[in-house]
Amino acid sequence: MLDKSPALNVPNDLAAFWMPFTANRAFKSAPRLLAGAKDMHYFTTDGRKVIDGAAGMWCCNAGHGRDQIASAIARQAETLDFAPPFQFGIPQAFELASRIAELAPKGLDHVFFCNSGSEAADTALKIALAYHQINGHGDRIRLIGRERGYHGVGFGGTSVGGIVSNRKMFGTLLTGVDHLQSTYNRDKQAFSKGEPEWGAELADELERLVNLHGANTIAAVIVEPMAGSTGVLPTPKGYLKRLREITQKHGILLIFDEVITGFGRLGYAFAAERYGVLPDMITFAKGVTNGAAPMGGVLVRDTIHDAFMTGPANAVELFHGYTYSAHPLACAAGLATLDIYRDEKLFERAKNLEPKFADAVMSLRNEPNVVDIRTVGITAGIDLAPNENGPGDRGFAALRSGFHDHDVMMRIAGDTLALTPPLIVGEDQVGEIIDKVARVIRAVA
Ligand SMILES: Cc1ncc(COP(=O)(O)O)c(C=O)c1O
Repeated sequence: MLDKSPALNVPNDLAAFWMPFTANRAFKSAPRLLAGAKDMHYFTTDGRKVIDGAAGMWCCNAGHGRDQIASAIARQAETLDFAPPFQFGIPQAFELASRIAELAPKGLDHVFFCNSGSEAADTALKIALAYHQINGHGDRIRLIGRERGYHGVGFGGTSVGGIVSNRKMFGTLLTGVDHLQSTYNRDKQAFSKGEPEWGAELADELERLVNLHGANTIAAVIVEPMAGSTGVLPTPKGYLKRLREITQKHGILLIFDEVITGFGRLGYAFAAERYGVLPDMITFAKGVTNGAAPMGGVLVRDTIHDAFMTGPANAVELFHGYTYSAHPLACAAGLATLDIYRDEKLFERAKNLEPKFADAVMSLRNEPNVVDIRTVGITAGIDLAPNENGPGDRGFAALRSGFHDHDVMMRIAGDTLALTPPLIVGEDQVGEIIDKVARVIRAVA
């Protein structure tokens, strides 16, 4: 069992790797380099133990370095390293699809595998367009996302996403896309635990878009049940139900992007269950393998799947897929991960811990510059007021101070600190994370 940093050579020159979504020059002048991880901790290349307040990146719900997952991957690599997923298959892919479908709300019984959340979002959007076309509704081509939504970085996901910095350098993106407004309103929702009371009526904006574009031009609406990447924005009470009613009324497909909320983050296998809403598709990734191998996928309603299963039996039904769809190592990791979730009842554990987690995070409300805190499931967003250098600078300072000076890892979105620890987190560790974050907030005041 790993209990300290393994010895690793750190290259002198870090220039060759152009890091994703990273301030490369700042990183390379003071690197945050990780060498190992076990349970609730990362180990750094300089021998420190850092508590993981971020489940890696919303991925490692069962904590790090799980032997069961590591040995499943190793066994799989020795037995069957790769199998072509087009026209061939491996039993583990079918088993994993069934296990995921069992966890999902009834009716979402089919899984299309890919390798990331971005691919899952693009896959779901493509399935929506193709479904309407084979149903004789080829004029349903519009896609609707939401401001402050994040659906990865493919052209589809970027287009329906609502983050200006992710969009503005990449041309016109997909045409025919519109956006609902964000569900966040600080004046009406500040310091909400769980789903804010105010804001269900924001779903009615979809009626406005339907009136503007015509219902029969709209293929799908995609939303996150809790917008994670833009700072933990839980949807208001009743909002998703209303969105479901309106989409259903107009024959528009509803896609939940559960790349973050899937696999226990909100105390349920999927947030759709927490909110009692049955979408037409659910995208997932991250927690499906506990982050130990890249995998994503789309859960699809029977009616949609079955609509494709017509025509000649020897003909490909959907011209879409990836070389690494249902990769053997990812399937092995996924099956071992789902065993751990089941055996350790981690989703239930998260649900039971939620009130205490929320209280602990809310205790930060009187720390300097804290202007809002939101919590839902085992996730929290803490908004800090920007400093004199402009938006994002204080948040970035907090990330660095947390890692270098206080041995805590968190996520940031601008000046929002996101806490989203592995679901194995103990109450004492929640306390430790909060103490450390309080010190960080004071350090960047
Ligand atoms: C809701 C949501 N969708 C899609 C993605 C993209 O996932 P990936 O980075 O695996 O492509 C993310 C990543 O954080 C996400 O939070």
